[in-house]
Amino acid sequence: MSKSPENIHTTFDQLLKRSDKEELLQQHSLCVWFTGLSGSGKTTIAKGVELELHKLGYLTQVLDGDNIRSGINNNLGFSEGDRLENIRRIAEVTKLYLNTGIITLNCFVSPTIDVRDLARDIITTEDFIEVYVNAPFSVCEQRDVKGLYKKARAGEIKNFTGLDAPFEAPSNASLEIKTDKMTIAESVQAVVNMLLPKIELKN
Ligand code: ADX
Repeated sequence: MSKSPENIHTTFDQLLKRSDKEELLQQHSLCVWFTGLSGSGKTTIAKGVELELHKLGYLTQVLDGDNIRSGINNNLGFSEGDRLENIRRIAEVTKLYLNTGIITLNCFVSPTIDVRDLARDIITTEDFIEVYVNAPFSVCEQRDVKGLYKKARAGEIKNFTGLDAPFEAPSNASLEIKTDKMTIAESVQAVVNMLLPKIELKN
């Protein structure tokens, strides 16, 4: 797909700016990117973070794999190419939220360095806060919240992350949460503590 398509005349520069929206909402928007195995706890933590931030008056949006894949990305599977396209679209959608001043909490397996680099490039390094939700494969398999590990073991799901598709752990995450060692409340608090100074609007 072309980066600057022919006959397309964008109007980004004529619209109200992100800073205008941030001023209205009294918050600095950014994207918290949770990466980790299926069942590691990404969405559970994001939901908790959203609730805490909401109570403090911050406007957020949780974006997560299962929800996005049931709608805008319902034509994509789990091949390497489809995962890249999944994340590319999500990153573009995230940018729209950030330009509206909204803090996004993104929960995607996003299993490879390449796929997370793609997201970071689109969203920009400045706005991309990576959180590694780290639970060992064996723990996620034991939890098997959605019954997918069982299906993958039985060969009913191909390219399952951690089994017959890779998961490359991030080495430069802003925060790593070991969900087999911390409670949900502790995990949520760790993310909130890290975020508060970053989302506060500085004049
Ligand atoms: S990603 O790899 O493209 O980032 P995404 O986060 O959107 O994945 O979707 C992952 C979710 O889809 C998992 O939480 C799980 O519920 C479901 N899923 C179904 N098939 C697979 C698979 N082969 N590998 C990983 N997750 C899968």
